[in-house]
Amino acid sequence: MDKEHVFFENYADTWDRDRKENREILAYMMRLSELPPGAHVLDAGCGTGTLIPYLHEAVGEQGMVEAFDYSRQMLDKAREKFSHLREVVFTEGNILKYDFPDQCYDAVICLNVYPHMAGRARDFIRKMYGTLKRQGSLIIMHDMPRQCVNRLRGDSAEEPPCLLPPVDILESQLIGCGFSVAIAMDTAQFYFIKVIKDQELPYAQYVDEDTELPAVSQIHTGGHVPHRHNHTQTKMVMNRLARISGHLEAIKRMVDEGRDCSEVLMQLAAVDSAIVSVSKVVLKDHIDHCIVDAVRENNVEAIENLKKSISTFIK
Ligand SMILES: C[S@@+](CC[C@H](N)C(=O)[O-])C[C@H]1O[C@@H](n2cnc3c(N)ncnc32)[C@H](O)[C@@H]1O
Repeated sequence: MDKEHVFFENYADTWDRDRKENREILAYMMRLSELPPGAHVLDAGCGTGTLIPYLHEAVGEQGMVEAFDYSRQMLDKAREKFSHLREVVFTEGNILKYDFPDQCYDAVICLNVYPHMAGRARDFIRKMYGTLKRQGSLIIMHDMPRQCVNRLRGDSAEEPPCLLPPVDILESQLIGCGFSVAIAMDTAQFYFIKVIKDQELPYAQYVDEDTELPAVSQIHTGGHVPHRHNHTQTKMVMNRLARISGHLEAIKRMVDEGRDCSEVLMQLAAVDSAIVSVSKVVLKDHIDHCIVDAVRENNVEAIENLKKSISTFIK
């Protein structure tokens, strides 16, 4: 048993007393998760079962929740509280070593667990990918902001601490393992990423980290013939655009379901700032590469185009 495992075994008795459960945020993240009734869900790193009642309510009597943890003491606490629920089963095991069946779950949810996997992130993501059904979702969430998680982790005895990365870094890892990003939010209150296995998104050809990117000229540009140059950030830009597009789809569903306007506006503001942020990356790449080349080649037209792009961007 490693130090961290021992830590959780010893902490089980007081976990519920010390854990500050923010029901409003948990309920909000559950809504974002969109677990369908009847789903078979793995609560990976369930601890004392904080999420079990939310999951049980979402999947209903036709569904199944598998509460999974390597700490026997934590799992016993969860059992004490929820063994009366017929649709909940409890499994003791190490997420990184357990032989999960292939294509078994509709969703895997990890609440406050990812930093414990971060040292072996790729193994973890691949394992979860294998055990999800096609179109199944992996949801990585924290009911506190990333900075708080990292502060807590930084205080832990572990050397070096495994941190919760910014969403775009975790997204790249998830995309590299074959997932498509549906929602990614790193807010002042919580951290939430939902990715889908094998979902066909327009940029699915960019999923494999080891795959060479197609040349820029192969991307359909609506008749405009692009000038030839090298961009260093294309892959990151495509990943971010895929994320924005997934986020917008989620907002469309929120509007369709008649969700609260303030929730919708909050999400639109997040997309707005994501677009500005990706635009800055494109602009910087443009200046770093195209314009340097244009000046070297005395390409007046390219320099004029840059001026137009900048004035459009800052309008
Ligand atoms: C921070 S607690 C979160 C518990 C619960 N999800 C919550 O939010 O209250 C992390 C949990 O993950 C479990 N855990 C950590 N690494 C694990 C691993 N490799 N396999 C299984 N469980 C693990 C710990 O035992 C602990 O219960």
